[in-house]
Amino acid sequence: MNVDFTNVPKHYAAREDAEMRDVLMDPNGIGPAIHYYMIRGGSDQKNITVWEPGTISGEYIKTYGHYHIGDLSETYQIIYGQGIALLQKLTEDENGEMIPDSVAEFKAIPVKAGAEIFMPPKFGHLVVNIGTTYFATVDDSPVNFGDRDPSDFPGHANYELVKKMRGFAYYVVEQDGKPALKRNPLYKSTEKEDLGGLSVID
Ligand SMILES: [Fe+2]
Repeated sequence: MNVDFTNVPKHYAAREDAEMRDVLMDPNGIGPAIHYYMIRGGSDQKNITVWEPGTISGEYIKTYGHYHIGDLSETYQIIYGQGIALLQKLTEDENGEMIPDSVAEFKAIPVKAGAEIFMPPKFGHLVVNIGTTYFATVDDSPVNFGDRDPSDFPGHANYELVKKMRGFAYYVVEQDGKPALKRNPLYKSTEKEDLGGLSVID
């Protein structure tokens, strides 16, 4: 294959500890310098994400989480390790605006290498590494990094709602060596939920 590298931008990006403080269960907990690494090729070349293993004050390492802008879906293939995907759809007001602290539907989906997860439009999503090794995925998100620094948050996604609520409706935490869920007290209500067989701790 003949590739002209003249205008190929930098594909690598990293989500650093300081940025992740916004959405951690314990913003003062001790975490790694980089929580996850991204190689962004967009929908054609695909995007690869690699998570560090470990917990921060009991919470497993995760991606920041976001909602898509518009009607965009996304498919993640798990290529290595063990994780849990969290998906949540917020309630909308009469103008179709998402209400930050009101969840219409929440799902926790345990996944491992070989699995595929579909992120439907309107469902915010993040993925947690619950294993002892790196966790790695390939996705088809249409990241366009041509005109921006790839370490920025991609433009097709809304991160502000997640930041405002300090994460999703539940945090995935380690309890007796196993994953469990812990409610994020900032959310007022969750209408419908499928917790994927995980227990909820206080
Ligand atoms: Fe996404």
